Amino acid sequence: MLPSDDRELAGNGLAAARKLLKIVNDLLDVSKIEEGRFGYNFEQTNLVIFLSEILKNAQAVAKEYDIKLYFDKGAQQQLMVTIDPNRLGLAISNLLDNAIRYNVKNGSVTVNIKLLTDKPFAEVAIADTGIGIPPENMEKVFTKFFRAENVIKRETEGSGLGLFITKNIINRHGGTIRAESVIDRGTTFYFTLPTDSRLIPPKEVGLGI
Ligand SMILES: Nc1ncnc2c1ncn2[C@@H]1O[C@H](COP(=O)(O)OP(=O)(O)OP(=O)(O)O)[C@@H](O)[C@H]1O
Ligand SMILES: [Mg+2]
Repeated sequence: MLPSDDRELAGNGLAAARKLLKIVNDLLDVSKIEEGRFGYNFEQTNLVIFLSEILKNAQAVAKEYDIKLYFDKGAQQQLMVTIDPNRLGLAISNLLDNAIRYNVKNGSVTVNIKLLTDKPFAEVAIADTGIGIPPENMEKVFTKFFRAENVIKRETEGSGLGLFITKNIINRHGGTIRAESVIDRGTTFYFTLPTDSRLIPPKEVGLGI
């Protein structure tokens, strides 16, 4: 057993190493996405169970930030979609990570699923009660390395890669993503996934960079 000062140092070292690893992984993911070589393995998955699992994993971080995490399944118990669980899991974790970290103490995050009535898509909404995104920054949040002024001011950490990766993953699944936000009130990200697997693009395309 290490003395407590040494334990704290070792803990700091581990946290720093994890952060660095995340940056390296995000940069590698971005390069692969731009080349059209991220690689996807699609399988039939129950979206309700899949989201429950991801939310369970996010509980620890939510607790650390004093944020309550809610899952509103709506009428859905069984909603089959064709997804790459690893890739889509990363996309949703990025959205939850933002919703938790750009929130306020004792705030909340609510995840909701519904089936759209006018087209064969499911829509997932991730709503937070956080700091919001300035209207003039809304268009840029999905671009690489972009971070809004209100998060830079708060000295929160981040590279501005999470939403770029997330958007590309959702698009590869045949879905779209958008956000609505009110400053100091909160932000909701909405993404769709086709419930008909024929709507998934036949192959991954690079971004021609
Ligand atoms: N839920 C949210 N509430 C408020 N601002 C948000 C939210 N989600 C994203 N943003 C804004 O969009 C920017 C881009 O988000 P993105 O996840 O791409 O990068 P990041 O969180 O800064 O860094 P990282 O690469 O570690 O995810 C954020 O820096 C923040 O300004
Ligand atoms: Mg992020």
